[in-house]
Amino acid sequence: MDTAPARNDGTSSAKPRVCIIGASGKLGRYMVRHALDRGYDVVAVCREASVGKLDVFGDQITIVPGQTDSRPVVKRGVDGCDSVLTVLVPRGVDRYSTRTAQAVLDSAKPGARLIFSCGWHITRDGLDTYSWKLRALVKIAGPVAKLVRFADLDDQVEACRRVFASDTRWTVVRGSDLEEGDSEGLPVWSRHVGDPILRSNTTRRIDFAQFMVEALTDDELVQEAPAIVGCRTPSALAHAAGPTARS
Ligand SMILES: NC(=O)c1ccc[n+]([C@@H]2O[C@H](COP(=O)([O-])OP(=O)(O)OC[C@H]3O[C@@H](n4cnc5c(N)ncnc54)[C@H](OP(=O)(O)O)[C@@H]3O)[C@@H](O)[C@H]2O)c1
Repeated sequence: MDTAPARNDGTSSAKPRVCIIGASGKLGRYMVRHALDRGYDVVAVCREASVGKLDVFGDQITIVPGQTDSRPVVKRGVDGCDSVLTVLVPRGVDRYSTRTAQAVLDSAKPGARLIFSCGWHITRDGLDTYSWKLRALVKIAGPVAKLVRFADLDDQVEACRRVFASDTRWTVVRGSDLEEGDSEGLPVWSRHVGDPILRSNTTRRIDFAQFMVEALTDDELVQEAPAIVGCRTPSALAHAAGPTARS
């Protein structure tokens, strides 16, 4: 059993402690809310300029400000944490995602549960099949985003390759297209993009965040890369209704 870590306010806590890397983003803030609701002690790592985005949580969380791809910052954030939720963002062309992932893999305590977010374009075993739309997006928008130094999709690919190759207790959650809105419930998932259950290709961001947080305690997801979709989408509902409804 872990000893209770010291909090910024000097008190101690026996709650499980989770570090959220990239906590100030949209997905990150939803994850903070879900984690607090489930009784976690939350350490939020975010860029210094974005600390204000976490004001809504007041003193319910401990904030570690700094670049989320910085090893010392990540090390501080994950110190004493039982688990880490990481938003992998391929921003810029300086391997932001790869550096973030590597820092988490190297700094988290042995045996910690590590959950990473990414998109459907990441494949673990090459058995995913993609729509022409997604293929075109990756083929055309990818190089353009890199050219203008906005983002580098290959960076997220490399980050995930390193996670897949690690012997840690990882899960890589692959998100479909995202939308805002009230929760519809825990998304459903499949091992491969292209499976009929995923056809609707839409998930509420709030539910993506719930899936990430629930994965912390779902050992069936250890060393899995679930591709998720909203549980109320037509493809998920058709799958739940059985083969007759699907045909
Ligand atoms: N958007 C989609 O449709 C979509 C689809 C499938 C999967 N995903 C996955 O979902 C996750 C969240 O993506 P999201 O699109 O919803 O975004 P998001 O939650 O708003 O997160 C964006 C993150 O990027 C950070 N960021 C912004 N500008 C940055 C910069 N210049 N340098 C470094 N970090 C920067 C933000 O930090 P600050 O708060 O400091 O700005 C924030 O942590 C990602 O892993 C993504 O791959 C997204």
